Amino acid sequence: MKYLSYFLFLLLNSSIFAQVQITEMTCEHQQNPMGIDVLNPRLSWKLKAQERNILQTAYQIRVSSTQAFEKKNLVWDSGKTPSGESILQVYKGTALQSGKMYFWQVKVWDNQGRDTDWSNTASWEMGLLSINDWKAQWIEPTTQALPEIDNSKALMLRKNFALKNKIVSARAYVTSHGYYELSLNGQKVGNEVLTPGWTAYHKRLQYQVYDVTKMLRSGANAVGTMLGEGWFRSNLGWVNNKGYYGKRLGLLCQIYVKYADGTEDWVLSDGSWKATNEGPIKVNEIYDGENYDATREMKGWNEANFNESQWTNVSTAIFDNKNLVASEGAKVERIEELKPIKIFRTPKGLLVADMGQNMVGWIRLKVTGAKGTKIVLRHAEVLDKFGDFYTENLRKAKCMLTYTLKGEGEETYEPRFTFMGFRYVAIEGMDLKTENLTGIVVHSKMTPTGTFECSNSLVNQLQHNIQWGQKGNFVDVPTDCPQRDERLGWTGDAQAFCRTAAYNFDVSAFFTKWLKDVAADQRPDGSIPWVVPDILNKMDAATVPGSAGWGDVVVIAPWTMYLTYGDKQLLENQYPSMKAYVEFIRKKAGDSYLWKNGSIFGDWLFYKPVMDSHGEPDGYTDKDYISTAFYAYSTSLVKEAALVLGKEEDAKMYGEVFEKIKKAFNEQYVTGAGRIASDSQTAYVLALNFGLLPENLQAKAANYLVQDIKSRENHLSTGFLGTPYLCHVLTKNGYTDVAYDLLLQEKYPSWLYPVKMGATTIWERWDGQKVDSTFQDVGMNSFNHYAYGAIGDWMYRVVAGIEINSKSKGYKQFYLKPEPSVRLNYAKSTLNSPYGEIASGWEWKEDGKIKLTMKIPANTRATITLPKNKNGDFAGAKLIESLGLQNLKKTEKGIEVEAGSGEYVFEY
Ligand code: BGC
Repeated sequence: MKYLSYFLFLLLNSSIFAQVQITEMTCEHQQNPMGIDVLNPRLSWKLKAQERNILQTAYQIRVSSTQAFEKKNLVWDSGKTPSGESILQVYKGTALQSGKMYFWQVKVWDNQGRDTDWSNTASWEMGLLSINDWKAQWIEPTTQALPEIDNSKALMLRKNFALKNKIVSARAYVTSHGYYELSLNGQKVGNEVLTPGWTAYHKRLQYQVYDVTKMLRSGANAVGTMLGEGWFRSNLGWVNNKGYYGKRLGLLCQIYVKYADGTEDWVLSDGSWKATNEGPIKVNEIYDGENYDATREMKGWNEANFNESQWTNVSTAIFDNKNLVASEGAKVERIEELKPIKIFRTPKGLLVADMGQNMVGWIRLKVTGAKGTKIVLRHAEVLDKFGDFYTENLRKAKCMLTYTLKGEGEETYEPRFTFMGFRYVAIEGMDLKTENLTGIVVHSKMTPTGTFECSNSLVNQLQHNIQWGQKGNFVDVPTDCPQRDERLGWTGDAQAFCRTAAYNFDVSAFFTKWLKDVAADQRPDGSIPWVVPDILNKMDAATVPGSAGWGDVVVIAPWTMYLTYGDKQLLENQYPSMKAYVEFIRKKAGDSYLWKNGSIFGDWLFYKPVMDSHGEPDGYTDKDYISTAFYAYSTSLVKEAALVLGKEEDAKMYGEVFEKIKKAFNEQYVTGAGRIASDSQTAYVLALNFGLLPENLQAKAANYLVQDIKSRENHLSTGFLGTPYLCHVLTKNGYTDVAYDLLLQEKYPSWLYPVKMGATTIWERWDGQKVDSTFQDVGMNSFNHYAYGAIGDWMYRVVAGIEINSKSKGYKQFYLKPEPSVRLNYAKSTLNSPYGEIASGWEWKEDGKIKLTMKIPANTRATITLPKNKNGDFAGAKLIESLGLQNLKKTEKGIEVEAGSGEYVFEY
C-alpha cells in the first residue's frame, strides 16, 4: 500500500476576470517619484490574471508631457513592442527636461491573443539635470555672528517673500550641509525626516524635491529652515570625528513657482536670508539626542510678518555643486506608532516606559505642565538582570531627550535631528503616563514584500525579529546597529544580510542608492572602506581596508540586487567597482593566488566558548583562509556578472583566475580526505558554498561539517561570515534535517535562544544576554544588529521554497521547492516579486499526506518540486501531466514540473 499514493489536484477558479490587469506601475523602482535625474528612466508594471499560464507577448508604452495623451503631447510612443519583459523597460523618447513631470501608460498583449486597455496613468517628475539649473546660493551663518563648531545648537534660517498671482504649481528643491527641516508658512514641508539623508557627501549629496503648490499663496509668504548637525557635522563613530564632512552648516534651497497666467517666480536661498541659533534646540547630535527648550521658541518664526530684527545676516558660500544628485533611495519617514505596554518603577526607583518592542526612531511627548519644567527621557534596549535600566552598551552615545515646557497648555514635542534604538524609556522630571508617550518608528520607507509563517511560534518571533532588525537598521544606509556610537554602514553586515533584506522588503531603491556610495567611497587602489559612507578611513586605511567578507559587499550586493530585481543596469553601473575590488585583491595575492593578511575581522563574533563556561571547542576560522575563500567567491561573481553583461573576455579571464585560486586554496588548506586545515564550521561552509572543493571531496567535507554540528549537540559555531550560508550548505548537501535542527535549537548558541530570552530584534551576539541575564560584553553588545538575521533567506528559500532561477532575472522564472520538516506542522510564505505575488506553503495532513498551496504571478513561470509526503511517497505523476503541467521529472527531492502562472493546490 505504501506506494499507492494518490494525488488530488484542485483547479482554482479558472477565469473570474477574462482579462489581464496592469498594476503597480513604477519608474526607477519608485512609485510616483519626484526628482529623477536618470536621463532614460526605466518603467515597470505588474500583471494580474486569475487564469493560468498567462504570459505577456508584447507591450506598448506611451509617455506624455500632459495628462491628456494627445498625439502632440507624446514624448514617446514605443509602438507595439514584441517582448515578454514587464520590468525596467528603458525610456527611449525625446530628451526629458529638467523639472518636468511626465505621465505614462502601458498596454499589453498576452499569449491568449488578447490585449488590455491602456493602464491607469502613472507619473514621474524629473529633477534638475544640469548644475546650471541651480539658481540658489549656498547660505551659511556669518562667521562673526555664529561661529563654527562652538556647540550643537540648531541653526534657524528664514526669509519673507511675496507671490504675485494665482499659483498653479510650485516645487521646492532643497539640500543642506547637516540635517534640514524645511517649512513654509508655518508648516513642515513633506513627510520625510532626517533629510537630506546620508551619502558620501563630498562626492554625492542628495537634494529632495517637494510639491509645495498647496503650501503657498499669492501675497505674503515665509520660508523657514532648521539645520541640525546630522551626519555632516555630528560627532561620528567612537573616534573624535566632529565636523567630519565640514565645519559649517549650510542650506541650498530654491522654490520654483508657476502662475496661472504663464509667468513664473523663484524664491532662492541667498544673502537676503536671516539666521539665528537662539531657537529652542539647544543641543542636537545624532548619538546624543536633543535638548529642546520650548521657552525659547520663537512664535511665528517661519511665517510672514515675523519680526526678525534680532536675527543676523547670512553669508553666501560657493560650492561647485557637482556632487548634487536627486534623492533616489527609499525615503526615511515616520512609519508607525507604538504605545508603551506599561510604565513601571525599576528596583532602583526609576520610572520606565516599556514600548514592548526594540524600536528605532523617537518618542513623541504630549504633556501639560508649568513653564520651565524639565523632562528628561533616556533610552535603553534592555534591562539588566535586576530589572534596572541598562545603558552601558550604548557606549558614548547619550541617547537622551531633554524637553523644557513652555507652560501654555498641552505641548507636543518630537525631536528632529536624532534617532534612537530603544525599547525602554526612563522618565525623569514628571510622572508621565502612557497617554503622554508615543513611539515613532522611523526608517526608510520600503514596501514590505515578504511574509513567512510556520507552526512554531518561536520561529515566527524570529521572523518578526529579523524584520524589525531590518526596519531599525535601514535608515537611509544599511547600518550595523541603531543605538550606540556607531550606526554606520558596515559593509560586512550589509553583504551578509542583503539577500534576506530583499525578501522582507523591496530594497531595490535603497541599495541602488547605497551601492553608488560604495563605489564613490572606493579607494583608488580598489579597496573598500570598512564602512560606507566612509568616516573611519583614518583607521582602516592604516590597517586592512576591505577586510575580507566586508569589502566583498561591493560584489555580493550588486549581484544579489541583480538576481532579485532583474536590474541589469545596476550591475552594469557597479561593474567597474566590482572589478576594481577583485583587481585590488589580485594584486595583493599575486601569483600565489592566496590572499594573506586580507582579513582583520575574520569570522566576526563566531562562537567563542573561552568567553563563557561551555568548555567546548572553539569556532575559530583562520583569517587567511577566509580571505582566500572570499577572493575566490568575489572573482566567481564578477565572472557571472561579466557573462550577464556580455563582457566575454572578462568572463573568461575571471573564470581562469577562479580556477587558479581554487587550486592554490586546495593545495594550501584541503587534505585529500576533504578535511580542511582550519577545521571549523565556517571553514567548511565557505569552501562548500563558494564551490571551492573538487567534486569528490564535497560529500566528505559536508560530512565533517555535520559531525562538528552533531558533536556540539546540534549547535552552530559560526560568526558573521559563515552564518548566512550555513543552512544553505547543509541543504545543498542533503542535510536539510540538520539545518532544521539548527534552526529549531533553543539553547545558546542558536537563533531561537535570544527569542526565548524575550528578544524582539536580532542580537549582535549569540549570547548578548546570558541565561542568568548578565551581559556578555559591555562595549560590543547591541540588541539590534541584523547580521545573524541572515537565516531569514533560508526560511524563504528552503522551508517555503521560493527560490530565484539565476538564469532568469528578478523571478521571471523561479523555483518553488519547499523542503518540509516533520518537526513543523506547516510553513507558508509570500513574496511580492517584481512580477507580482508568489506564494508557497505546505501543511501535513492526516495519513501522512501533504498539502501544498502555490501561486505563480502572471508573466512568470516556475519549476515546482513536489516533495515526498510523510510516507515517503511522490505524487501521482500521470495525473499531473494530464492537468497541463509540463516536463514532469522525478528527482532526488521529489517530482519536478514546469508550471505557468496561476494558483495551484496539491494534496497527496
Ligand atoms: C560593528 C559590526 C561590524 C564590526 C566589524 C562593529 O563595531 O558593529 O557589526 O561589522 O564592527 O568588526
